[in-house]
Amino acid sequence: MDTNEQQILKSWAINAERWTRVVQQKLLDSRVLVTDNAIVKAVVELKPQTFLDIGCGEGWLCRELWERGFDGWGVDAIAQMVETALGNGDERFVVSSYRDLPLQSFGSIKQFDCFICNFSVLGENTVFEIAQAGQSLLEPNGKIIIQTLHPHIACGELPYENGWRETSWLGIGDEEFHPAPWYFRTVSSWIEEFHRRNYRLLKLIEPIHPKTNSPASILFIFEQQ
Ligand SMILES: C[S@@+](CC[C@H](N)C(=O)[O-])C[C@H]1O[C@@H](n2cnc3c(N)ncnc32)[C@H](O)[C@@H]1O
Repeated sequence: MDTNEQQILKSWAINAERWTRVVQQKLLDSRVLVTDNAIVKAVVELKPQTFLDIGCGEGWLCRELWERGFDGWGVDAIAQMVETALGNGDERFVVSSYRDLPLQSFGSIKQFDCFICNFSVLGENTVFEIAQAGQSLLEPNGKIIIQTLHPHIACGELPYENGWRETSWLGIGDEEFHPAPWYFRTVSSWIEEFHRRNYRLLKLIEPIHPKTNSPASILFIFEQQ
């Protein structure tokens, strides 16, 4: 694994408890006001019978979707995140890196109608690993829903081109996070990466933040060909 990709996982292991607090105490405005609803709405509109929440963190999205009657599992590389998720009483969580997804078992589900990645595609190779996992773990014409920072907003003053960046944790409550690298992609690069791997863009969504009137995130929905 590339050093930056390793560092992402090391940082999330350190940040697991803090991140859990941010999510469960609803400390991040943009999530509460916009992006949590945006991802739930995108899944509900797709009506998948089964989902895999990839990079599920402490598991809030799985719980939301189970409540709405969807069947699915959550996976995350960080054992502490998964332990927290399991602590809520449901067993449908697994510890796994994205690379090892095809090696895991998910109860009676052999293939999913959709993968969901909510702010969890952070590295350069992860796009490839998730697309690859879809070859065995997605039903024919399975979907991949990705919500991520909007490149036009996240780019800041730096050149609008792909490359490794350092996460800015500014504005996330009073929490101090361990710095983590993340891989910045332009909008067209997100689409090209999946097209190259036999997925086609079905839909692109740009939810607007009511306070800034700018996109709070971007969602890509890809379909396997
Ligand atoms: C920003 S958090 C988002 C968590 C959750 N999706 C949510 O909406 O709260 C990113 C998550 O992705 C996980 N993650 C990142 N890269 C990963 C990888 N290569 N394999 C497995 N999990 C990964 C991290 O451990 C972390 O829990």
